[in-house]
Amino acid sequence: MQRTLVLLKPDALERGLMGEIISRLEGRGLKIVAMKMIWVDEALAKRLYAAHEDKPFFRGLVDFITSRPIIAAVFEGEDVVAVVRNAMGETDPALAAPGTIRGDLAQDIERNLIHGSDSEETAAREIELFFSKAENFKHTTE
Ligand code: RTP
Ligand code: MG
Repeated sequence: MQRTLVLLKPDALERGLMGEIISRLEGRGLKIVAMKMIWVDEALAKRLYAAHEDKPFFRGLVDFITSRPIIAAVFEGEDVVAVVRNAMGETDPALAAPGTIRGDLAQDIERNLIHGSDSEETAAREIELFFSKAENFKHTTE
């Protein structure tokens, strides 16, 4: 069973879409194994987006993700990395298919509502950035 990190970005809180987005992912049969609302600080934002350090949009990315609280969550399921990425849709909402979270709800490439890890390796790294071992526990109720 795979795990992935999902972030509901500041526009999700601002626009009252957190419940809707979580609902869509739960509707796909994905399980929430960890979830919290936090205010990301500059240091954490820079670690999250380290791969984009040299891009022209890096500063805007860091400013945006630190502008309001976000929800960080770990979802679990079969092929969850790909399932979440498909549910999210293309990075640019203008190109995202209808039926996807971004295609239906997001406003522009910066305010695109949701982050999902892009590989199993990235997921492991990103989950560790946001959750302690105790928070990202193994469910024993199954
Ligand atoms: P995310 O990391 O947020 O899940 O989104 P993603 O994989 O679809 O996109 P990625 O390439 O990792 O880019 C991270 C975030 O940077 C912003 N971005 N802006 N102005 C631009 O050209 C541009 N390109 C990317 C987006 O907000 C994207 O989610
Ligand atoms: Mg990405």
